[in-house]
Amino acid sequence: MRDAADPITTKGTRFDMSAASANTPDIKLQVKGLAKLYGHTIALDHVDLEVRKGELLTLLGPSGSGKTTLLQLICGLQEPTTGTVIIDGKDQTHAPVNKRDIGVVFQNYALFPHMTVAENVGFALKMRDLPKAEIATKVAKALETVGLAHAASRSPSQLSGGQQQRVALARCLVYDPAIILMDEPLGALDAKLREVMQIEIKRIHRETGATIIFVTHDQQEALALSDRICLMNEGRIAQLGTPREMYDEPQDLFVADFIGVSSILRGTVKAGRLETAIGALPVAGDTLPDGSRGALVVRPEAITLGEGFCEGRVRETVYGGAELRVIIDAGEQEIIARAPARDFDVAVGSMVRFGWTPDAARFLMDKA
Ligand SMILES: Nc1ncnc2c1ncn2[C@@H]1O[C@H](COP(=O)(O)OP(=O)(O)O)[C@@H](O)[C@H]1O
Ligand SMILES: [Mg+2]
Repeated sequence: MRDAADPITTKGTRFDMSAASANTPDIKLQVKGLAKLYGHTIALDHVDLEVRKGELLTLLGPSGSGKTTLLQLICGLQEPTTGTVIIDGKDQTHAPVNKRDIGVVFQNYALFPHMTVAENVGFALKMRDLPKAEIATKVAKALETVGLAHAASRSPSQLSGGQQQRVALARCLVYDPAIILMDEPLGALDAKLREVMQIEIKRIHRETGATIIFVTHDQQEALALSDRICLMNEGRIAQLGTPREMYDEPQDLFVADFIGVSSILRGTVKAGRLETAIGALPVAGDTLPDGSRGALVVRPEAITLGEGFCEGRVRETVYGGAELRVIIDAGEQEIIARAPARDFDVAVGSMVRFGWTPDAARFLMDKA
């Protein structure tokens, strides 16, 4: 652990700021004891969540963990079985969708093919009978925000997938909603375009100051985008925190395994060490009672290659330009390490030594 005053990192300062704002919370949205049953399926299991004004929170989790259900309850597309949804301090649990100040962007954005881009973006405002001049101003501003001012008079069929997704976003931004919900909006785009759109979404978030709840099953995307991540599993919140907290301080193995890559070494504590498939390993921190069961979680960047207290056979190497990922079989145990590709290379099938400093591994006790 680095000291909070360590000049190398601003981590300490950041922590202080979040602690201060936690004392005077500016809460935009509050969800209390929210549950949704579909027949016997518990889609959402009594979730409590507070979303701060202006933050970008991602709901992350495997398929079926309840992310979409939570979004639908927040925007009013579904009624909860129990629980409340509070927006700006007001109970909105049963308020109709159009009475909540919420914009929604789905993965399968359906643009009207026979309308221009500008007409698509202005459609809802036209339905609300806003004056023509006002619609034109708002549409122009929304298109500018998403970088499509030049494409206003095109038809959707003349746009790429990424541009169509921007139109869908503009259609939501045009009413200037206080909360924007996005359900896997980048899911249909290829990897390169996803990255471009992630940066765009961060910029739009900064420029509009909107509170954004962004759903994804992609942990990399969540780490890249979020102020905070809410990781869901089986209808519950597994952990909520900043990307750094989620990566550095996972509270259980589900979180450690879902966020980032790690080697997970299970075992039983004996005389202060964890007896695992690859030997008795040091456990940092307080001495644990003999017989405690749990696992050491080691991130790839914490593992040194070429020296150390263990040895294994290289099963696979994955070259990624800047880094070389090395997958090692140490008996039954799989170890995932990585090294700067410029300085390190190793042949598949060869034996390699590896290790880590005890502080770099996190011990997670099995839940009773
Ligand atoms: N309309 C529905 N009818 C029945 N079951 C549903 C419905 N919507 C969701 N579910 C179930 O609720 C659980 C959570 O689904 P969902 O919220 O869509 O998860 P996610 O968005 O995380 O993939 C799943 O088991 C899913 O099958
Ligand atoms: Mg979903």
